[in-house]
Amino acid sequence: MDKLVSLCKRKGFIFQSSGIYGGINGCWDFGPLGVELKRNLRDHWWHTFVTSRDDMVGLDASILMHPRVWEASGHVEKFHDILVDCKACKKRFRQDHLESEICPDCGGELSEPRTFNSMLRTRMGVSEDTAVETYLRPETCQSIFVSFKDIASSTRVKIPFGIAQIGKSFRNEVNPRNFIFRSREFEQMEIEFFCHEDEAADWFDRWQQEIWGWYLAIGLHEDKLRWFEHPKESLAHYSKRTVDVEYEFPFGWGELQGLANRGVYDLTQHSQYSGKDLSFFDAERKERYLPTVIEPSAGVDRTVLALLCDAYDEDTVKDETRVVMRFHPKIAPVKAAVLPLVKKDGLAEIAETLEKRLRRKFITYYDHAGAIGRRYRRQDEIGTPFCICVDHQTKEDETVTIRHRDSMEQERLPMADVDAFILKQVSVRDIF
Ligand code: GAP
Repeated sequence: MDKLVSLCKRKGFIFQSSGIYGGINGCWDFGPLGVELKRNLRDHWWHTFVTSRDDMVGLDASILMHPRVWEASGHVEKFHDILVDCKACKKRFRQDHLESEICPDCGGELSEPRTFNSMLRTRMGVSEDTAVETYLRPETCQSIFVSFKDIASSTRVKIPFGIAQIGKSFRNEVNPRNFIFRSREFEQMEIEFFCHEDEAADWFDRWQQEIWGWYLAIGLHEDKLRWFEHPKESLAHYSKRTVDVEYEFPFGWGELQGLANRGVYDLTQHSQYSGKDLSFFDAERKERYLPTVIEPSAGVDRTVLALLCDAYDEDTVKDETRVVMRFHPKIAPVKAAVLPLVKKDGLAEIAETLEKRLRRKFITYYDHAGAIGRRYRRQDEIGTPFCICVDHQTKEDETVTIRHRDSMEQERLPMADVDAFILKQVSVRDIF
């Protein structure tokens, strides 16, 4: 992890938030490479689960919502962590994390457990007496339930169908830790899939397969993934069944995504609290009912962390160790680097023109500084899958070499074919 965290900082993937002020616990900034990695991940997810399906629609709701939402959802009453304080070192721990925490070996006596609500409070409105106290949303899914009626009446969705949303969530985590694994501000990719109760078990199984397939499609190693079935007695208050996808991080197995059968809990609660009928007329069954909800809920940041851990590799080439980030080409932040073999003889000009052309189609990088071997290593370290080298032969026959990051093998291609060759492998859409 130390190597990865330092590479992320050095290369501009992830920085501590407010670093020049000493940082702020549980918040992270995605730098120039991190932002592209994250964007590719979101695009891949949205394409897979929303735009390429005919039973899904999207939503981008506001983060701030009516405070009653959080009463209806159960968050005001139930979204608590149980805390204990160490009387000697004054550190605070989540009781359910005590065994895996490092500190309590200071030996201090622990206080009685007490509850602590994990939502971040905020005040909206300009005057003290009329300002409303509400919360930064702790999960994106509640706005899906709250907008359910608007979506149902403004689109032609038919049961079964899903609503997807990607967005920020906030939780006042007691101990943010393990880099971006547990933070206070993070991003979720959530789907609420609405179906008839009789079909819920079947949809649960289908979603389990879809989710697994997606982690493989973004390039994670299958032997680093596993399912965890939540025992009945520890299910969240809204859940009838939950399974998690876990990834084996350097610090141990950790949850990437939950898949829950939420039953009719949320729509029932919001119907009651808002006084609005949230039932749906199923034209096929000729029946009006509150649909059952199957919820795949994934974390963007945790998936980014899994991608970073999974991609990191060191190998030795001719007694020299190279660090290589083996990202899937669709996920890699920079898709291709264009490198003139040497700066002189007009090669730099040809390379620059080619790079400008490619940049309009995918993210590229131009570099002419230093020996070609060193320039390849720099690209390996940020996971660029293809390096295009413009050499003297280019001037004669308009071909270039393409060097593959993982095998380091090179092949020659006509310069005119480079765009399609790369696009085919890096696009998250099936464009060919
Ligand atoms: N709507 C259901 C829900 O929010 P959750 O298991 O609490 O369920 C879903 O969260 C996903 O959100 C987790 O699997 C994880 O990937 C991500 N997540 C939750 N808390 C997080 C945190 N503090 N930091 C980063 N990601 C988090």
